[in-house]
Amino acid sequence: MRALGWAGLGVWLCMTPLPMAMAANAGGLAVNAEEASINAVDPHIAALEARVKAIRKNKNALQSSIAAGRKATFFCANCHGVDGNSPFREVPTLAGQNAFYLLTQIQKFADGRRQSSAFMQGLVKVLSDTDKINISLYFASQAVRPAVVAHTAQWQTGASLFSQRCVQCHRTTAMGDERIPRLAGQHPEYLVLSLSRYRAHNGQRMDPLMQAVTSSLTNAQIQDIALYLSSKN
Ligand code: HEC
Ligand code: HEC
Repeated sequence: MRALGWAGLGVWLCMTPLPMAMAANAGGLAVNAEEASINAVDPHIAALEARVKAIRKNKNALQSSIAAGRKATFFCANCHGVDGNSPFREVPTLAGQNAFYLLTQIQKFADGRRQSSAFMQGLVKVLSDTDKINISLYFASQAVRPAVVAHTAQWQTGASLFSQRCVQCHRTTAMGDERIPRLAGQHPEYLVLSLSRYRAHNGQRMDPLMQAVTSSLTNAQIQDIALYLSSKN
């Protein structure tokens, strides 16, 4: 996979089949209503979260889960980095990401509620529930390496937009919480891609909260917020 490089990966990502994305949109209200509440978790994810909570209560269980997660991510490391800090600007850093958010996204790729990457959708199908738990705990335990960015006017605009429109869910620290993603230290290119996908309502990322929040953002505002977030520790 490493030999394929970013160019090869780009080809993979461009192959997301359009009819699938359109079918997802046709799901309409039923899907939106189900996803409208942050706390509405489907039973399968709730069961995975319960297992994570139990593991966290026991220091030894947590250590062995993280160690197993490190082994299980040998293939993921080609794109997301060994410690979860991705070397590719459009591949998300997973280091320091919240474990329940990671579990949920893996599950959304698997069941088609997230269609932003045909490659990821196929890949997660081979993971067992235990793999998903170990991988999420491993990446969550790793430290993010934020970008070093000058505090320009663009950065300031990003900071104030973020504090006006995003902190009630992602927190002033941009660390989110269990089910809300950490944004601090994420690659700006990936953040721009994700925000644009929610705004586009193109079936790739279907969270109704984020679709609503991004609907009024301009391209320039998305760039400003992404720059600001990439520099946060
Ligand atoms: C060929 C490169 C590649 C490999 C290998 C890969 N990923 Fe990914 N992954 C991506 C890309 C690109 C995205 C972003 C998709 C998007 O833009 O929505 C992604 C997204 C994700 C996300 C969503 C992160 C977020 O912030 O929402 C998770 C979780 C994830 N990958 C987990 C894994 C795991 C676990 C493995 C190994 C089993 C893995 N990936 C292997 C390229 C890869
Ligand atoms: C009402 C709560 C809420 C608000 C306000 C909110 N978010 Fe979110 N955000 C979420 C949730 C929940 C998710 C996970 C959605 C999913 O599963 O796709 C998310 C996901 C994201 C992601 C995807 C992260 C990734 O790793 O792919 C980005 C980027 C993001 N939000 C940025 C923002 C920005 C920037 C703002 C302000 C302009 C904002 N959010 C405001 C709740 C919120």
